Amino acid sequence: MIEGDGIGPEVTREALKVLTKVSKKLSAPLEYNKLDVGAKRWLRTKETLTDKEMDAIAASDAVYLGAVGDPKVPPGVLERDILLKIRFELDLYINLRPCLLLPGAFTPLKGKTSSDINFIVVRENSESVYAGMGGVFKRGTPDEVAIQEDINTRKGVDRILQYAFEYCEKRKHKKKLTMVDKANVLTHAHGLWRRAFEDMGKNFPGVARNAIYVDAAAMDFVRRPEAFDIVVTNNIFGDILTDLGAIISGGLGLAASANLNNLPSPDLPRKGQVCRGLFEPIHGSAPDIAGRGLANPLAAILAAKMMLEHLGEATAADAVEKAVKKTILEGKIFKKDSPDLAVPTSEAGDRVCSYL
Ligand code: IPM
Ligand code: MN
Repeated sequence: MIEGDGIGPEVTREALKVLTKVSKKLSAPLEYNKLDVGAKRWLRTKETLTDKEMDAIAASDAVYLGAVGDPKVPPGVLERDILLKIRFELDLYINLRPCLLLPGAFTPLKGKTSSDINFIVVRENSESVYAGMGGVFKRGTPDEVAIQEDINTRKGVDRILQYAFEYCEKRKHKKKLTMVDKANVLTHAHGLWRRAFEDMGKNFPGVARNAIYVDAAAMDFVRRPEAFDIVVTNNIFGDILTDLGAIISGGLGLAASANLNNLPSPDLPRKGQVCRGLFEPIHGSAPDIAGRGLANPLAAILAAKMMLEHLGEATAADAVEKAVKKTILEGKIFKKDSPDLAVPTSEAGDRVCSYL
């Protein structure tokens, strides 16, 4: 468990309350340890994640993370050397981001209900501009050049498409997979995605497929979210679109995510790797509201629920999900017509616990 920065410790505290309670109720032992990782440690020691800590993470069943990022640390240090390091070194190439409007939660989209906003984004999580390739030439001079390369490998694209098609086939919904790209401009990179999508699609006759451009997708998330079932896209588009997906489905305070690897063990990159999942709310560390009891812990609690599912604890996951739904339906934790909390962070967590 990494509480991290900003609101990270506040929201993970509530998720831990929920996990502890559900583990007691079901007599399913919960074992965890906290890593002191994040801004405070970096400011003290200039350390982010040590090799020893990476080994401990790789040997655990799952990682649970609050948030990283702090205005006192240069941008990218904590993000790249903690969060992205775990995603990349464990090759957690799937980033699952549900955009489900739970009944009673607020959407700013007029006339849309939970049956309209019910889709899941499968974000490629191991390539694209996130790979960190490139560099700066003649830095700080008028001739400065900065290059950040967009990496798209056939293997990387195929595996995320395969996961998305399988997920879509399994999901009891529209059986419709939408790929989001920019193939009209990024003809090399997204030409590859389009070819891979067509090829792979032939193996999934039960799944309807369509490919749309990212600009149009942004519009349709707002205009007609009911058009989506499973959305598959690259790392950077997935990052951007899922903030939009979050705000239409109850706000950042409700949006959870799972970073996964489902490949056979010999394909895992790290020696001794057991860990195949990192679970986190998709919101950041929100330093502007940190420490004031304003942060909604439900995203963190729903991330814990995704972790329980991953660990094979279906009963526990179900119980947590039901408790969250009841807490929202009760109608007391949000301000009227708003995604903002009406009660302190800890009370929201207590209410979820009371329904367990
Ligand atoms: C997210 C975050 C991260 C990302 C940052 C913190 C590196 O925005 O999980 O969406 O860009 O992936
Ligand atoms: Mn993001």
